[in-house]
Amino acid sequence: MIERPRRLRANRDIREMVRETHPNAKGLILPLFLKEGTNEKEPIGSLEGHFHFTPDRVKEAIDESLECGVNKVILFGIPQEKDEVGSGAYAPDGVVQQGIRAIREAYEDSVYIITDVCMCEYTSHGHCGILNGQYVDNDKTLKYISKTALSHAQAGADMVAPSDMMDGRVGAIREALDENGFENTAIMSYAVKYASAFYGPFRDAAGSAPSFGDRKSYQMDYHNVREAVKEARLDEAEGADIIMVKPALSYLDVIAKVHENTVLPTAAYSVSGEYAMIKAAAEAGLVDEYGIVCESALSIFRAGADILISYYAKEICEAIRKGDI
Ligand code: PBG
Repeated sequence: MIERPRRLRANRDIREMVRETHPNAKGLILPLFLKEGTNEKEPIGSLEGHFHFTPDRVKEAIDESLECGVNKVILFGIPQEKDEVGSGAYAPDGVVQQGIRAIREAYEDSVYIITDVCMCEYTSHGHCGILNGQYVDNDKTLKYISKTALSHAQAGADMVAPSDMMDGRVGAIREALDENGFENTAIMSYAVKYASAFYGPFRDAAGSAPSFGDRKSYQMDYHNVREAVKEARLDEAEGADIIMVKPALSYLDVIAKVHENTVLPTAAYSVSGEYAMIKAAAEAGLVDEYGIVCESALSIFRAGADILISYYAKEICEAIRKGDI
Protein backbone atom coordinates (compact mmCIF):
# COMPACT_ATOMS: atom_id res chain seq x y z
CA MET A 1 0.00 0.00 0.00
CA ILE A 2 1.42 3.36 -0.99
CA GLU A 3 -1.14 5.61 0.63
CA ARG A 4 -2.07 5.03 4.27
CA PRO A 5 -4.29 7.95 5.36
CA ARG A 6 -4.35 6.55 8.90
CA ARG A 7 -0.70 7.65 9.39
CA LEU A 8 -1.96 11.21 9.71
CA ARG A 9 -4.51 10.16 12.32
CA ALA A 10 -2.19 8.17 14.56
CA ASN A 11 -2.16 10.55 17.54
CA ARG A 12 -3.40 13.96 18.64
CA ASP A 13 -0.21 15.77 17.62
CA ILE A 14 -0.28 14.65 14.03
CA ARG A 15 -4.04 15.14 13.79
CA GLU A 16 -3.71 18.70 15.03
CA MET A 17 -0.82 19.35 12.68
CA VAL A 18 -2.81 18.47 9.58
CA ARG A 19 -6.11 20.11 10.50
CA GLU A 20 -7.59 21.90 7.53
CA THR A 21 -9.97 24.20 9.37
CA HIS A 22 -9.12 26.59 12.18
CA PRO A 23 -12.09 28.16 13.89
CA ASN A 24 -11.85 31.85 14.56
CA ALA A 25 -12.14 32.57 18.30
CA LYS A 26 -11.99 36.29 17.53
CA GLY A 27 -15.00 35.90 15.27
CA LEU A 28 -17.36 34.63 17.97
CA ILE A 29 -20.36 36.76 18.90
CA LEU A 30 -22.69 36.16 21.85
CA PRO A 31 -26.39 37.17 21.65
CA LEU A 32 -27.74 38.99 24.73
CA PHE A 33 -31.34 39.84 25.58
CA LEU A 34 -32.03 43.15 27.28
CA LYS A 35 -35.32 43.66 29.00
CA GLU A 36 -36.62 47.09 29.91
CA GLY A 37 -36.76 47.75 33.65
CA THR A 38 -34.37 47.67 36.56
CA ASN A 39 -32.53 45.15 38.65
CA GLU A 40 -33.68 41.96 36.97
CA LYS A 41 -31.93 38.86 35.74
CA GLU A 42 -34.46 36.24 34.70
CA PRO A 43 -33.80 32.85 33.14
CA ILE A 44 -35.18 32.46 29.61
CA GLY A 45 -37.33 29.32 29.61
CA SER A 46 -36.80 28.49 25.93
CA LEU A 47 -33.03 29.09 26.02
CA GLU A 48 -31.66 27.34 29.06
CA GLY A 49 -28.50 28.99 30.35
CA HIS A 50 -29.52 32.39 28.94
CA PHE A 51 -31.14 35.28 30.78
CA HIS A 52 -33.09 38.48 30.30
CA PHE A 53 -31.01 41.25 31.83
CA THR A 54 -32.17 44.75 32.55
CA PRO A 55 -29.62 47.28 31.24
CA ASP A 56 -28.37 48.08 34.75
CA ARG A 57 -27.33 44.44 35.20
CA VAL A 58 -25.98 43.64 31.74
CA LYS A 59 -22.45 43.88 33.15
CA GLU A 60 -22.95 40.48 34.79
CA ALA A 61 -23.42 38.93 31.35
CA ILE A 62 -20.51 40.80 29.85
CA ASP A 63 -18.12 39.87 32.66
CA GLU A 64 -18.90 36.19 32.20
CA SER A 65 -18.46 36.47 28.48
CA LEU A 66 -15.12 38.26 28.79
CA GLU A 67 -13.93 35.60 31.20
CA CYS A 68 -14.46 32.99 28.47
CA GLY A 69 -12.68 35.17 25.91
CA VAL A 70 -15.68 36.52 24.01
CA ASN A 71 -15.73 40.32 23.76
CA LYS A 72 -18.31 40.73 21.00
CA VAL A 73 -22.03 40.79 21.68
CA ILE A 74 -25.18 41.28 19.65
CA LEU A 75 -27.98 42.96 21.59
CA PHE A 76 -31.71 42.31 21.36
CA GLY A 77 -34.30 44.39 23.19
CA ILE A 78 -37.56 43.57 24.89
CA PRO A 79 -39.51 46.76 25.56
CA GLN A 80 -42.16 47.21 28.23
CA GLU A 81 -44.66 48.70 25.77
CA LYS A 82 -45.31 47.79 22.14
CA ASP A 83 -47.29 49.72 19.54
CA GLU A 84 -48.23 49.60 15.84
CA VAL A 85 -45.09 51.45 14.76
CA GLY A 86 -42.57 49.94 17.17
CA SER A 87 -41.71 53.25 18.88
CA GLY A 88 -39.49 51.50 21.41
CA ALA A 89 -37.07 50.45 18.67
CA TYR A 90 -35.86 53.99 17.97
CA ALA A 91 -36.59 55.72 21.30
CA PRO A 92 -33.41 57.54 22.35
CA ASP A 93 -33.80 55.99 25.81
CA GLY A 94 -35.08 52.62 24.55
CA VAL A 95 -33.90 49.42 26.19
CA VAL A 96 -31.14 48.64 23.68
CA GLN A 97 -29.95 52.25 23.66
CA GLN A 98 -29.71 52.11 27.47
CA GLY A 99 -27.85 48.82 27.27
CA ILE A 100 -25.32 50.15 24.76
CA ARG A 101 -24.58 53.14 26.99
CA ALA A 102 -24.21 50.96 30.08
CA ILE A 103 -21.74 48.66 28.33
CA ARG A 104 -19.80 51.50 26.74
CA GLU A 105 -19.52 53.32 30.04
CA ALA A 106 -18.27 50.30 31.94
CA TYR A 107 -15.95 48.76 29.32
CA GLU A 108 -15.10 51.60 26.93
CA ASP A 109 -13.72 50.02 23.77
CA SER A 110 -12.88 46.61 25.17
CA VAL A 111 -16.30 45.27 24.20
CA TYR A 112 -17.44 45.32 20.57
CA ILE A 113 -21.13 46.17 20.50
CA ILE A 114 -23.39 44.98 17.69
CA THR A 115 -27.13 45.59 17.69
CA ASP A 116 -29.93 43.70 16.01
CA VAL A 117 -32.01 46.21 14.08
CA CYS A 118 -35.61 45.10 13.62
CA MET A 119 -39.14 46.06 14.53
CA CYS A 120 -40.65 42.70 15.50
CA GLU A 121 -39.82 42.88 19.21
CA TYR A 122 -41.37 46.37 19.36
CA THR A 123 -44.51 46.14 17.26
CA SER A 124 -47.83 45.10 18.79
CA HIS A 125 -48.48 42.84 15.76
CA GLY A 126 -45.02 41.23 15.91
CA HIS A 127 -44.11 41.83 12.26
CA CYS A 128 -40.71 43.17 11.25
CA GLY A 129 -42.05 46.39 9.77
CA ILE A 130 -44.92 48.83 9.39
CA LEU A 131 -48.21 47.34 8.22
CA ASN A 132 -50.35 48.40 5.33
CA GLY A 133 -53.39 46.24 6.01
CA GLN A 134 -51.96 42.75 6.38
CA TYR A 135 -48.89 43.53 4.28
CA VAL A 136 -45.57 44.77 5.64
CA ASP A 137 -44.95 48.00 3.72
CA ASN A 138 -41.38 47.85 2.48
CA ASP A 139 -40.52 51.46 1.72
CA LYS A 140 -42.31 52.90 4.72
CA THR A 141 -40.47 50.44 6.96
CA LEU A 142 -37.11 51.62 5.64
CA LYS A 143 -37.51 54.95 7.41
CA TYR A 144 -38.15 53.25 10.74
CA ILE A 145 -35.32 50.78 10.31
CA SER A 146 -32.87 53.58 9.45
CA LYS A 147 -34.04 55.63 12.41
CA THR A 148 -33.50 52.62 14.67
CA ALA A 149 -30.00 51.95 13.32
CA LEU A 150 -29.07 55.61 13.71
CA SER A 151 -30.28 55.69 17.32
CA HIS A 152 -28.10 52.65 18.10
CA ALA A 153 -25.09 54.37 16.53
CA GLN A 154 -25.81 57.52 18.51
CA ALA A 155 -25.91 55.49 21.71
CA GLY A 156 -22.48 54.08 20.84
CA ALA A 157 -22.91 50.84 18.87
CA ASP A 158 -19.91 49.76 16.78
CA MET A 159 -22.00 47.83 14.28
CA VAL A 160 -25.66 47.52 13.37
CA ALA A 161 -27.21 44.33 12.05
CA PRO A 162 -30.54 44.75 10.22
CA SER A 163 -32.60 41.54 10.39
CA ASP A 164 -35.90 42.73 8.93
CA MET A 165 -35.33 41.56 5.31
CA MET A 166 -36.88 44.64 3.69
CA ASP A 167 -35.50 45.43 0.23
CA GLY A 168 -33.08 48.33 0.17
CA ARG A 169 -32.56 48.61 3.90
CA VAL A 170 -28.78 48.38 3.84
CA GLY A 171 -28.59 51.35 1.47
CA ALA A 172 -31.10 53.31 3.53
CA ILE A 173 -29.21 52.65 6.78
CA ARG A 174 -25.84 53.48 5.20
CA GLU A 175 -27.24 56.81 4.02
CA ALA A 176 -28.74 57.68 7.41
CA LEU A 177 -25.52 56.80 9.20
CA ASP A 178 -23.31 58.72 6.78
CA GLU A 179 -25.51 61.81 6.82
CA ASN A 180 -25.18 61.96 10.56
CA GLY A 181 -21.45 61.49 10.84
CA PHE A 182 -21.46 57.77 11.55
CA GLU A 183 -19.54 56.71 8.46
CA ASN A 184 -17.43 54.37 10.59
CA THR A 185 -20.38 52.46 12.04
CA ALA A 186 -20.31 49.09 10.30
CA ILE A 187 -23.28 47.17 8.89
CA MET A 188 -23.55 43.42 9.20
CA SER A 189 -26.52 42.52 7.05
CA TYR A 190 -28.75 39.57 7.77
CA ALA A 191 -28.63 39.36 3.98
CA VAL A 192 -29.57 35.71 3.64
CA LYS A 193 -32.22 35.10 6.25
CA TYR A 194 -34.68 32.30 5.69
CA ALA A 195 -38.23 32.00 6.98
CA SER A 196 -37.42 29.29 9.49
CA ALA A 197 -38.99 27.19 12.21
CA PHE A 198 -35.60 27.30 13.93
CA TYR A 199 -36.41 30.75 15.37
CA GLY A 200 -39.07 29.38 17.70
CA PRO A 201 -37.21 29.64 21.02
CA PHE A 202 -36.01 33.16 20.15
CA ARG A 203 -39.58 34.31 19.52
CA ASP A 204 -40.53 33.04 22.96
CA ALA A 205 -37.49 34.78 24.46
CA ALA A 206 -38.20 38.06 22.68
CA GLY A 207 -42.00 37.85 22.67
CA SER A 208 -41.84 38.55 18.94
CA ALA A 209 -43.99 35.90 17.28
CA PRO A 210 -46.26 37.53 14.66
CA SER A 211 -49.83 37.86 15.90
CA PHE A 212 -51.15 36.79 12.46
CA GLY A 213 -49.64 35.17 9.40
CA ASP A 214 -45.94 34.43 9.05
CA ARG A 215 -42.79 36.09 7.76
CA LYS A 216 -42.72 34.41 4.37
CA SER A 217 -43.43 37.60 2.41
CA TYR A 218 -40.10 39.03 3.53
CA GLN A 219 -37.81 36.22 4.78
CA MET A 220 -36.43 33.79 2.20
CA ASP A 221 -37.86 30.49 1.01
CA TYR A 222 -35.63 27.63 2.13
CA HIS A 223 -35.87 25.92 -1.24
CA ASN A 224 -33.58 28.57 -2.71
CA VAL A 225 -29.83 29.03 -2.82
CA ARG A 226 -29.25 31.06 -5.99
CA GLU A 227 -31.45 33.70 -4.42
CA ALA A 228 -29.01 33.78 -1.49
CA VAL A 229 -26.27 34.91 -3.85
CA LYS A 230 -28.58 37.58 -5.25
CA GLU A 231 -29.40 38.89 -1.75
CA ALA A 232 -25.73 38.90 -0.77
CA ARG A 233 -24.70 40.78 -3.91
CA LEU A 234 -27.45 43.36 -3.50
CA ASP A 235 -26.42 44.10 0.07
CA GLU A 236 -22.78 44.23 -0.95
CA ALA A 237 -23.67 46.83 -3.58
CA GLU A 238 -25.68 48.83 -1.03
CA GLY A 239 -22.71 49.09 1.30
CA ALA A 240 -22.91 46.14 3.70
CA ASP A 241 -19.61 45.33 5.42
CA ILE A 242 -20.42 41.75 6.41
CA ILE A 243 -22.92 39.30 4.94
CA MET A 244 -24.75 36.98 7.30
CA VAL A 245 -26.45 33.67 6.58
CA LYS A 246 -29.11 32.47 8.99
CA PRO A 247 -29.86 29.81 10.25
CA ALA A 248 -26.58 27.91 10.07
CA LEU A 249 -26.70 24.15 10.57
CA SER A 250 -29.33 23.31 7.97
CA TYR A 251 -27.79 25.88 5.64
CA LEU A 252 -24.13 24.89 5.39
CA ASP A 253 -24.44 24.68 1.60
CA VAL A 254 -25.75 28.24 1.57
CA ILE A 255 -22.86 29.46 3.73
CA ALA A 256 -20.40 27.83 1.32
CA LYS A 257 -22.10 29.30 -1.72
CA VAL A 258 -22.36 32.80 -0.29
CA HIS A 259 -18.75 32.70 0.89
CA GLU A 260 -17.63 31.83 -2.64
CA ASN A 261 -19.72 34.53 -4.23
CA THR A 262 -18.96 37.60 -2.16
CA VAL A 263 -15.68 39.21 -1.22
CA LEU A 264 -17.14 40.36 2.11
CA PRO A 265 -16.57 38.44 5.34
CA THR A 266 -19.28 35.82 5.84
CA ALA A 267 -21.06 35.47 9.16
CA ALA A 268 -23.34 32.62 10.18
CA TYR A 269 -26.00 32.75 12.88
CA SER A 270 -26.51 29.45 14.65
CA VAL A 271 -29.99 30.24 15.86
CA SER A 272 -32.07 29.55 18.93
CA GLY A 273 -33.64 26.33 17.61
CA GLU A 274 -30.23 24.86 16.90
CA TYR A 275 -29.13 25.63 20.46
CA ALA A 276 -32.37 24.37 21.98
CA MET A 277 -32.22 21.07 20.09
CA ILE A 278 -28.72 20.32 21.33
CA LYS A 279 -29.65 21.33 24.88
CA ALA A 280 -32.75 19.17 24.91
CA ALA A 281 -31.00 16.14 23.47
CA ALA A 282 -28.14 16.53 25.95
CA GLU A 283 -30.51 16.90 28.84
CA ALA A 284 -32.33 13.74 27.81
CA GLY A 285 -28.96 11.99 27.97
CA LEU A 286 -29.04 11.22 24.26
CA VAL A 287 -25.91 13.06 23.12
CA ASP A 288 -22.70 14.46 24.55
CA GLU A 289 -23.32 18.22 24.61
CA TYR A 290 -19.67 19.31 24.43
CA GLY A 291 -18.93 16.97 21.54
CA ILE A 292 -21.95 18.14 19.55
CA VAL A 293 -21.19 21.82 20.22
CA CYS A 294 -17.60 21.41 19.02
CA GLU A 295 -18.51 19.43 15.93
CA SER A 296 -21.39 21.63 14.84
CA ALA A 297 -19.46 24.88 15.40
CA LEU A 298 -16.53 23.57 13.42
CA SER A 299 -18.80 22.49 10.57
CA ILE A 300 -20.01 26.07 10.23
CA PHE A 301 -16.45 27.36 9.96
CA ARG A 302 -15.58 24.54 7.57
CA ALA A 303 -18.47 25.58 5.32
CA GLY A 304 -16.85 29.00 5.00
CA ALA A 305 -18.06 31.19 7.84
CA ASP A 306 -15.50 33.72 9.06
CA ILE A 307 -17.72 34.84 11.94
CA LEU A 308 -20.09 32.81 14.12
CA ILE A 309 -22.97 34.11 16.20
CA SER A 310 -23.96 31.43 18.69
CA TYR A 311 -25.71 30.95 22.03
CA TYR A 312 -22.77 28.62 22.71
CA ALA A 313 -20.16 31.31 21.91
CA LYS A 314 -18.56 31.08 25.38
CA GLU A 315 -18.32 27.29 25.27
CA ILE A 316 -16.97 27.34 21.72
CA CYS A 317 -14.34 29.90 22.69
CA GLU A 318 -13.16 27.67 25.52
CA ALA A 319 -13.07 24.66 23.23
CA ILE A 320 -10.87 26.58 20.80
CA ARG A 321 -8.62 27.69 23.65
CA LYS A 322 -8.22 24.08 24.77
CA GLY A 323 -7.37 23.04 21.23
CA ASP A 324 -10.33 20.68 21.05
CA ILE A 325 -11.39 22.31 17.79
C1 PBG B 1 -35.53 39.62 14.50
C2 PBG B 1 -34.67 38.43 14.69
C3 PBG B 1 -35.05 37.09 14.83
C4 PBG B 1 -33.87 36.38 15.08
C5 PBG B 1 -32.83 37.29 15.04
N1 PBG B 1 -33.35 38.54 14.78
C6 PBG B 1 -36.37 36.45 14.84
C7 PBG B 1 -37.17 36.33 13.61
O1 PBG B 1 -36.79 36.76 12.52
O2 PBG B 1 -38.28 35.82 13.75
C8 PBG B 1 -33.78 34.91 15.36
C9 PBG B 1 -32.63 34.49 16.18
C10 PBG B 1 -32.71 33.12 16.74
O3 PBG B 1 -33.64 32.34 16.50
O4 PBG B 1 -31.78 32.80 17.49
N2 PBG B 1 -36.20 39.69 13.30
